[in-house]
Amino acid sequence: MVRQSTRPPGDGRLSRALGDPEFGRHFTDHMVLIDYCETGGWRDARVVPFGPLSLNPGSAVLHYGQGVFEGLKVYRHADGHLRAFRAHAHARRFASSAARLAMPELPESLFIESIRQLARADAGWVPHQRGASLYVRPFLIATEAFLGVRPSREATYGVIASPAGPYFADADNGIRLWLSRDYSRAGPGGTGEAKCGGNYAASLPALHQARANGCAQVLFTDASTRTWVEEAGNMNIFFVFADRTLVTPPLSGAILAGVTRDSVLCLARDMGYRAIERPISVEEWRAAAASGELREVFAVGTAAVITPVAGLVGEDLLIETPPPGSRSVASLMRAELSSLHHGDRHDRHEWMSDL
Ligand code: COI
Repeated sequence: MVRQSTRPPGDGRLSRALGDPEFGRHFTDHMVLIDYCETGGWRDARVVPFGPLSLNPGSAVLHYGQGVFEGLKVYRHADGHLRAFRAHAHARRFASSAARLAMPELPESLFIESIRQLARADAGWVPHQRGASLYVRPFLIATEAFLGVRPSREATYGVIASPAGPYFADADNGIRLWLSRDYSRAGPGGTGEAKCGGNYAASLPALHQARANGCAQVLFTDASTRTWVEEAGNMNIFFVFADRTLVTPPLSGAILAGVTRDSVLCLARDMGYRAIERPISVEEWRAAAASGELREVFAVGTAAVITPVAGLVGEDLLIETPPPGSRSVASLMRAELSSLHHGDRHDRHEWMSDL
């Protein structure tokens, strides 16, 4: 199903896309589609021009939110190859998100092949600049038209892509997080660990509050006690202590198992840090920041990679973390990941896949 074009898109569309401070508003020329039905399985894989989908208004995704997605990045290496970062980990998470939403699990090989086909068709859209990449967005939507509540027997898998520069405009100085007391992102037994649209839609009023209070993102705590730190908006969060320990909240079921989160845990251990997953409360954050034990806080995700957190703001709370220096763990991690992404460093964990 390949139609390969290595030419950059004409008319400056790639540079306009990279110059746009808003993430993900420009799309490449093609998309991949694969249909699924319970009786016939996955079929009719195709690369087609990017454009609107034709969808029955009765489709289950439109009514009951049965849909999941992924986000991963493709980089252009100096040897001319296009490589995806941790594509297999994304494929596994996509399948487990689908299972949580009672949807069919796309085989890993089809997931990888779909990324390959789109990257080849739109090779010209993969940026050359350091720090820039092609953000690839696979998604799966329930397309059977019916209004009863049950799992859809039909689905469509798609992959679209958008050239990406930095996610936050002023990330180097750190972002502020708003401590949401009114809203939760996920609860026990809910869909917090699945990458489904509902989690993101439900977080938007809290994001609105964050922005009204001068913060770029929301800090979500656990839904039951509002004590324990869970996620920083759509990112995982890390705390760096003076004794070279990195802490991130454990995967409780309410937290997305971030691929960048896992990569940072792994790289930190490679670099001799103690990197642990344990519960951490807002109160511990406050006390450790006050005593000077807490050296850094940073948020991680595929889109934003590593973003320092300058502080936590709430109705009656302000915790400031020291500004990230050039020798901060956040910068070290960002440099390490960037070297891997761009192929400057030996890929000892075999995280980059040839496309
Ligand atoms: C990602 O980091 O890939 C995300 O999913 C965050 C956001 C763009 C939804």
